[in-house]
Amino acid sequence: MALDKMEKLNLEDKMIRTELCEVEGIPLAEPICSIWNQVWNFKARPDDLLIATYAKAGTTWTQEIVDMIQQNGDIEKCKRASTYRRHPFLEWYMPGPSPNGYSGLELAEAMPSPRTMKTHLPVQMVPPSFWEQNCKIIYVARNAKDNLVSYYHFHRMNKALPDPGTMEEFMEKFMAGKVLWGSWYDHVKGWWKAKDKHRILYLFYEDMKENPKREIQKIMKFMGKDLEQEVLNKIIHNTSFEIMKENPMANYTKDFVGLMDHSVSPFMRKGVVGDWKNYFTVAQNKKFDEDYNKKMANTSLVFRAEL
Ligand SMILES: *[C@@H]1O[C@H](CO)[C@@H](O)[C@H](O)[C@H]1NC(C)=O
Ligand SMILES: *[C@@H]1O[C@H](CO)[C@@H](O)[C@H](O)[C@H]1NC(C)=O
Ligand SMILES: *[C@@H]1O[C@H](CO)[C@@H](O)[C@H](O)[C@H]1NC(C)=O
Repeated sequence: MALDKMEKLNLEDKMIRTELCEVEGIPLAEPICSIWNQVWNFKARPDDLLIATYAKAGTTWTQEIVDMIQQNGDIEKCKRASTYRRHPFLEWYMPGPSPNGYSGLELAEAMPSPRTMKTHLPVQMVPPSFWEQNCKIIYVARNAKDNLVSYYHFHRMNKALPDPGTMEEFMEKFMAGKVLWGSWYDHVKGWWKAKDKHRILYLFYEDMKENPKREIQKIMKFMGKDLEQEVLNKIIHNTSFEIMKENPMANYTKDFVGLMDHSVSPFMRKGVVGDWKNYFTVAQNKKFDEDYNKKMANTSLVFRAEL
């Protein structure tokens, strides 16, 4: 009996989970490939702001900071909608009824200016209109090991993503770039290179943890905003992990029900630097580092995996 039930659950799990497809060698979720031409031809406007990250690098956190800055610290205004509706997720597409059915493009197109959007695309796949319009872009990067661990747990709890397998299996896929949105290594390096040619503010998750005030001030400056100390303090407080975890407009508990299972692993899980140490064995760490050093040899980009 119990086994029957488990098999049935496993089957349901497999039926929901999306398969990967590829565009220009980058693994994406199958529905995204089906609308790729529309994503590529997206018409950016000059006052669009794009928040770009590799998945699980501090995206929602940065979105909340940006929204609070835009709303001059007005919490009520920030509560107007869930994160994914305030800032359309540009390339994300899931067919079906709302809210699990979701088209970032449709939301973005219907949104009045000035718009803020989110993307996980590697730099070479960003729709060309963003460069043509010289849009401002905020990129956030997180050290590979914590990013990997967070991405693993996110795959476990989010049935819109492929089954991650074991941590060991996922680690192999991550190192090979055979995960959704492709190679972490190419992602962070590609955007790092692009920042010298475009209006890109390149931030690090670890810096944001270490000194949120300093990093929020950088974001404010980049956005051309000058807010009073009192407002800044409010932004620091209300975008802290502890507060955001309890913010129903940011913690995804009431969205994507049936897709995200917070009892498996909450969307806002730990929000710390160095949690990878609880997951990497000594042997895995050695192997990961050797591979990392090869892949990161041709960049000046340096990460901190502990504070
Ligand atoms: C902002 O912080 C205040 C003070 O802790 C809290 O009462 C409020 O619920 C927070 N707002 C949001 C949207 O998290
Ligand atoms: C999300 O926020 C709501 C409202 O504060 C809270 O009840 C819930 O426990 C939070 N969800 C998670 C997974 O932390
Ligand atoms: C680094 O090398 C890899 C493979 O050799 C290449 O694909 C990538 O474009 C290079 N990156 C930079 C930033 O030069």
